[in-house]
Amino acid sequence: MRREMLRSSREDALRLLMSAPYVHLASTTPDGAPVVRAVHGVVVDDALCFHGSPVGEKTTLVGREAVVVYEQLLADIPSYWTDATMACPATSLFVSVQAHGTLELVEDPARKARALQGLMEKFQPEGGHAPITHTDERYRKPVASIAIWALPLAVLDGKWKLGQNRTAQYIETIVAKLWERGAPGDARALELVLRANPAVDRPSFLRGPDGVTLHVYAEPSELDEALPLLRDEYWNKSRFDDDAIRDAHRRSSAWMLARDASGAVVATARAVSDGVKYAYLGDVAVRADLRSRGVGAALVNALLDHPAVRGAKRVELATRDAMRFYERLGFRTVATEELPTMIRTTMALIRPGAQRTIVQS
Ligand SMILES: CC(C)(COP(=O)(O)OP(=O)(O)OC[C@H]1O[C@@H](n2cnc3c(N)ncnc32)[C@H](O)[C@@H]1OP(=O)(O)O)[C@@H](O)C(=O)NCCC(=O)NCCS
Repeated sequence: MRREMLRSSREDALRLLMSAPYVHLASTTPDGAPVVRAVHGVVVDDALCFHGSPVGEKTTLVGREAVVVYEQLLADIPSYWTDATMACPATSLFVSVQAHGTLELVEDPARKARALQGLMEKFQPEGGHAPITHTDERYRKPVASIAIWALPLAVLDGKWKLGQNRTAQYIETIVAKLWERGAPGDARALELVLRANPAVDRPSFLRGPDGVTLHVYAEPSELDEALPLLRDEYWNKSRFDDDAIRDAHRRSSAWMLARDASGAVVATARAVSDGVKYAYLGDVAVRADLRSRGVGAALVNALLDHPAVRGAKRVELATRDAMRFYERLGFRTVATEELPTMIRTTMALIRPGAQRTIVQS
């Protein structure tokens, strides 16, 4: 790789490869013809495995040098964000992974079955089939007749192009601009840029009190860190289990976390929003020992300004007793309902001047 500082750790590269819905495979046939294929790959036994017909063109690639690549474009960065005149600074942020080696044909039935079962677990995680093993009579024939290729992952490179080779001022500028533009994916790009450049201060709009940092995007895998703050709260307990809470978060328009200086999750909040007319806030919680220090207000204010939420003219929520907290943020009570277990107050924040994020389709 040309620029070492853009190289990711092997763990990050492997994680990206494992998450890839498909990869591109490039090689050459014995007579030198180039071959490029999109394949469903799965990492099994430290090799990228994929399957196919035992009589197709891919069989000619066995024993030949091959490369697999996968990349995610995170955000395009227009030149005028950092230079008023010149086109040269136009660039893009991305993460990519590449592995190369000699393509093998997997012959061992046990390994073939492991690769096929790995593919099922990746692409049909809900199960609904008998596990594939080479000893299961029902799978003996299919395992024998499907070809499995393996590319060993000895040479695995990840390239994280997230501004690691840029100045702090450049990072601060593009972080602010990504937040301002707020196109789909910009919140994630912003968070990944900040993670890749830990020496750069988070912008003031992503800082809370007492060294708490606000995170505008979290990977679904980080949700488990927020669950302890949510599962015993009155609106979830005995009503929504962990899986339901996870689903609600994954399907939300915006979800933000706060972390303390040690990196522990100390607050969480989410919103569903059409970005124009309505948004609804929910699952707002601050760890008990950090309450009354302004963390909740900082997090909800940042969520209200999240690109997915900031354009909504009317933002609603319901609460049992935190009316004073939301009143300070500009919400007003619009209704109360007497439920068997509590009086629920619905509050609304009306923002006639809210400017929606312009998103090009
Ligand atoms: C509500 C909550 C998110 C506020 O977070 P926070 O970090 O403590 O909020 P801030 O420090 O920014 O503001 C605190 C102020 O909000 C108000 N407030 C917070 N919780 C309140 C409550 N349950 N009832 C009345 N007022 C409340 C108070 O005025 C408080 O100021 P005070 O401590 O000086 O009295 C937090 O208390 C919490 O997680 N509570 C349990 C979960 C919950 O009820 N979430 C809201 C569901 S709608």
